Amino acid sequence: MVLYKVKVATGPFLKAGTTDSISVTLVGTCGESPKQLLDHIGKDFAPGAVDEYKVPCKADLGELLLLRLHKERYSFFPKDSWYCSHLTVTAPDGQWYRFPCYQWIEGYCSLELRQGRTVCHDTLPLLLEHRKQELRARQRSYRGNGETEAQDPGAQPSRGSKALAGPTSPTPSSEFVTEHWREDWFFGYQYLNGVNPVMLRRCCRLPENFPVTSDMVAPVLGPGRCLHEEANVSPQGGRVYLADYQILEEAPINRLNGVCQHVAAPLCLLWLSPLGNLLPLAIQLSQTPGPDSPIFLPSDSEWDWLTAKTWVRNSEFLIHENNTHFLCTHLLAEAFSLSTLRHLPLCHPLYKLLIPHTRYTLQVNTIARATLLNSEGLVDKTTSIGRAGLLYLMRTGLQRLNYSTLCLPDSLQERGVLSLPHYYYRDDGMKIWKAIECFVSDIVTYYYPNDTSVQEDSELQAWVWEIFTQAFLGRESSGTYTPSPLWDSSPKLIKFLTMIIFNCSAQHAAVNSGQRHLGHYPDQHFTEECPGRSVVAFQRRLAEISQEIRARNKTLALPYAYLDPPLIENSVSI
Ligand SMILES: [Fe+2]
Repeated sequence: MVLYKVKVATGPFLKAGTTDSISVTLVGTCGESPKQLLDHIGKDFAPGAVDEYKVPCKADLGELLLLRLHKERYSFFPKDSWYCSHLTVTAPDGQWYRFPCYQWIEGYCSLELRQGRTVCHDTLPLLLEHRKQELRARQRSYRGNGETEAQDPGAQPSRGSKALAGPTSPTPSSEFVTEHWREDWFFGYQYLNGVNPVMLRRCCRLPENFPVTSDMVAPVLGPGRCLHEEANVSPQGGRVYLADYQILEEAPINRLNGVCQHVAAPLCLLWLSPLGNLLPLAIQLSQTPGPDSPIFLPSDSEWDWLTAKTWVRNSEFLIHENNTHFLCTHLLAEAFSLSTLRHLPLCHPLYKLLIPHTRYTLQVNTIARATLLNSEGLVDKTTSIGRAGLLYLMRTGLQRLNYSTLCLPDSLQERGVLSLPHYYYRDDGMKIWKAIECFVSDIVTYYYPNDTSVQEDSELQAWVWEIFTQAFLGRESSGTYTPSPLWDSSPKLIKFLTMIIFNCSAQHAAVNSGQRHLGHYPDQHFTEECPGRSVVAFQRRLAEISQEIRARNKTLALPYAYLDPPLIENSVSI
């Protein structure tokens, strides 16, 4: 007779414990243990507890491969869900095994866990079959096209979640905005460090449908400057920028209280002054110039100019909420999450890397669909485009979406905004992008020593193919597939994973707000030492970035804190 010691860790959350009956079966290369009930006198499996049990076996089981966890009715007690964090097993020869679980277990069922070593490819038939079964079960649970009653295994009950309400009393930022919102420099500043810092593009040549002349803007440019020269002051960067809201031109228009609303599709020209302020030069509220759509200028009457700027802000709101925020972070994060859950088993390195960045995403999107985006929901009842307009904007935005939009360095380059001063979203975002890239690179190069190992990982290929077909609609023009697939080499995989983590964390924080911060990995899915060291290095770099941002913010009248790492949540969760 030999004895195995089993320790069971229950999650530290409210209601994470269970009164159900829990048993285990250990499966090794030389056989299986009998099913052993885990029961002490008194309460087992309380929240935060680590309970220890003995599992006797007739003979040594060899190397442990799987642990079967059985959850069954206990006496007359009702069904009770349980959050199991992990189990550890010490074999008679002292060998130690860890079995990550990190999920809610509902109802009465058996769950097969494999020991925590990260594995891209299995050779043992038992383990091969196990990972196939795990994925088949997940694919039944997580389906696209609204068919699923989706449930996130990393989820905690909503009882402990933070209220959705925003601040109710003035903050230093809100007081600053109240004081300065009418001023042109602050209107321009919001393009750089407001909630939608991705709209601006450098403008070398004015679009034909926006006939602004040098004479019109001369009062702002001052003597001796002409618009054309300012737009082309050097090959690297002119001083003229454009925000084009063309996507709103054909958006459906809503009726509110029986009254037809109005939607503008403005063009807004801005100029970087020698003092470093980004100043609006001209605004046209439609895409078709003419007597019905005049060009508004700062030299117009105060109220005409302020009204024109307000219409631009209204258009900005529609694009920000629907596309920059919901489409490009919430919905894309949902596609990344679903594909991760459906195609990567628990032991896969990319599952371990990405699962913290999927936390709450399915829940928050389900709530948004039920209360904000539904027919007669908040968007339908309060916005000028309504639900039909929202769907139009997201559909059109998705058709135009390309890979470089989602990769911060490429997006900044493409928009020609690398040299703009006081662009803290860019400065902070690039530091965080590089820190994520460095961390991801450590993990990828550890598990994928060469390009062939990436190409031969069929689970990775299925995962990324689903993202390509579901998130990018299989469009080769999205830049994810040609001239060769983005996922056929380690460097491309590193960039792809960096893009996913950045958009699920930092980008969402820049356009929303946060809860659990970036770099926090409470579940120990990785059991090897090397990824553990990479996590620590990543956390150290994020702490340095935070110090740099806080030191810089002390010098600013309006601090930019959206990308301060402790304020960036790990996932799209609100
Ligand atoms: Fe959000």
